[in-house]
Amino acid sequence: MLTLAPDAAGLDVAAELLREGKLVAFPTETVYGLGADARDDRAVAGIFAAKGRPSFNPLIVHLPSQAIAEDYCEFTDAARQLAGAFWQGALTLVLPLRSTAGVSKLVTSGLDTLAVRVPEHTVAQQLLTRFGGPVAAPSANPSGRVSPTTAEHVIAGLNGKIDAVVDGGPCGVGVESTIVSCVGEPQLLRAGGIPIEALEACLGAPLAIANDPTVPTAPGQLASHYAPKGKVRLNAPFAKEGEVLLGFGSVDAVLNLSPSGDLKQAAANLFSCLHQLDQMGAEKIAVSPIPDHGLGRAINDRLRRAAAPRP
Ligand code: TXA
Ligand code: MG
Repeated sequence: MLTLAPDAAGLDVAAELLREGKLVAFPTETVYGLGADARDDRAVAGIFAAKGRPSFNPLIVHLPSQAIAEDYCEFTDAARQLAGAFWQGALTLVLPLRSTAGVSKLVTSGLDTLAVRVPEHTVAQQLLTRFGGPVAAPSANPSGRVSPTTAEHVIAGLNGKIDAVVDGGPCGVGVESTIVSCVGEPQLLRAGGIPIEALEACLGAPLAIANDPTVPTAPGQLASHYAPKGKVRLNAPFAKEGEVLLGFGSVDAVLNLSPSGDLKQAAANLFSCLHQLDQMGAEKIAVSPIPDHGLGRAINDRLRRAAAPRP
């Protein structure tokens, strides 16, 4: 696979590969995505194959602007309010699909709704603009494993299975986008890079939270996900014999998400620390308690999945 620079020449190659139906990983501000032309059944099928992803799990379509996203889905007033406040950025909206959208049924798993996102990362923006079409992109990791926040993570997980990665350095936010369904009343489907408190402030109302665990509407609802190779124990004030401590705040730990207890820094470091624990061969991992507000909710959501029993 090719590693491409995030410059004009690299992005021209990346856009051309997407046009040829190839798979190209690229940075967004949340995590690296594994992109393919969302209109091309064969290319989208390639994403599922490369990730080993259950095909019932639909994909997010990435577009350069809200104006273009309006061609693909029907926006409600609440959706426009959220998009106006948080796009470009770490928010995905699930909306009724337009019949004229022309997106592969593999992207939506045959649903009549579509998840759309307008990323802020300049490399993602430039790639989307150069390509000029919808890019389906899940996180660029083997299904069920830790999401990638660097090009090295992408290569470690998917080398030989995809065509290229655009190396844009580490991702700033570090956890996936927050997913809100605006099909009917707004509903949180997955905690993520935009804190729920910010969404509620924008809407001026509390946000309903979807949590029927029997209906996997978002990957965060699959019990085991984001898993490092080692066994994970949560809310651990200190490590027991044989455990490696993943710390938060002022604790004596091998790896620390944020020694100063800053949730934003912890989110940015989360997946990178889990990848490092894999590289260290950590078999038992203890994790410090993380406050459950703001970005802490997304962090705790990912950590609970990481600690869940494996299938
Ligand atoms: O930050 C992110 O969201 C990253 C970057 C690459 O954009 N992408 C990402 O994609 O996390 P992924 O595939 O790992 O998670 C997206 C999830 C899907 O698995 C699915 O459960 C949910 O979004 N989703 C997609 N379409 C949906 C739909 N029509 N209705 C409900 N949920 C949907
Ligand atoms: Mg993912």
